[in-house]
Amino acid sequence: MQPLVDAYERKIDYLRISVTDRCNLRCVYCMPPEGIDLAESKNILRYEEIMRLVRLSASRGISKIRVTGGEPLVRKGIIEFLHDVASTPGIKDLSLTTNGVLLKGYAQQLKDAGLKRVNVSLDSLKRDRFQKMTRGDNLKEVLEGLEEAQKVGLTPVKLNMVVIKGFNDDEIVDFALMSKTKPYHVRYIEYMPFNTQEGWQRDKCITAKEIKEIIEKAVEPLEQITDTNGAQGPARRYRFKGAPGEIGLISPVSEHFCGSCNRLRLTSDGKLRTCLFSDNEIDLRTPLRDGSPDEVIEKILMDAVREKPKGHTINENIFKKCSRTMSLIGG
Ligand code: GTP
Ligand code: 5AD
Ligand code: SF4
Repeated sequence: MQPLVDAYERKIDYLRISVTDRCNLRCVYCMPPEGIDLAESKNILRYEEIMRLVRLSASRGISKIRVTGGEPLVRKGIIEFLHDVASTPGIKDLSLTTNGVLLKGYAQQLKDAGLKRVNVSLDSLKRDRFQKMTRGDNLKEVLEGLEEAQKVGLTPVKLNMVVIKGFNDDEIVDFALMSKTKPYHVRYIEYMPFNTQEGWQRDKCITAKEIKEIIEKAVEPLEQITDTNGAQGPARRYRFKGAPGEIGLISPVSEHFCGSCNRLRLTSDGKLRTCLFSDNEIDLRTPLRDGSPDEVIEKILMDAVREKPKGHTINENIFKKCSRTMSLIGG
């Protein structure tokens, strides 16, 4: 079978699947307070439909799958679905991005279903701040969820902190210090422009370089981690000498990693996105539902990959914000 390779010779082996547009939080940079217009449930792909795509894409070289949302743990049947994905020949790495609110109760079942690891979004360690950022009072549950995930072996447990100037940048050091006492991978993500009422401005984005300087000035120099063991991807990895955890810097804005991008995204309503920032979506729901044979669906996948953009244009004048919010794309 021909693997998925794009026009710039990038081998595509990573599929991010959003299983729902629903979420039990309302992060300010992701959603307006009243929530967003949700897709009608008939327009959300059924698990059997997603599984067909998983099998077809695995036969074309997709080996890593990340399940996202909205919040994936709010969709009914998620454990059985993850079990089916994990059992698909060719799938070597199955992970989940979650806000962690329901993680404690699900961790063991996730592990038993074959999930390898979790990435948890967490932007503040202060209860009132967490509440302000997510419009939910769930910090305690998230912290307990992290502990449980670590305990049952959904490792490495990664934490994603989106750093926004004037909002949570005063907590950069507190997050970094967690890596000294816990084996977590604490990752800082540069704030990216999406379609929210919060309104992205360049000066609210603190660059990865600045974040590293803040940490090193307050604590001590970081050691770079060069081995690829266990964690490839967009993060540049560091650690404090002797620390059990790691620090990761993800810099989509200041130093984009599009040149090595290996991913495709599937939205919960069945659209394929070949770039996080490109609104050029390819409809898979219609062919999945009109009786099209596998060959037709595979051809759509191959054609989409061939059209994958070279990179995003956040830093160029032609950049326009995405029409979908992050909760609809799945990060
Ligand atoms: P692993 O490193 O494999 O654990 O996963 P990941 O980093 O790809 O997954 P995660 O969902 O934790 O993503 C972390 C963040 O990196 C996302 O929230 C985005 O902010 C950013 N990111 C991930 N993929 C892309 C991408 O294709 N383009 C851009 N610009 N940013 C991305
Ligand atoms: N910029 C950077 N990261 C974002 N995320 C959501 N919105 C943004 C944004 N505007 C992150 C979430 C989650 C991941 C899937 O995407 O915090 O960790
Ligand atoms: Fe929900 Fe994640 Fe969006 Fe927050 S960032 S509202 S947790 S989907």
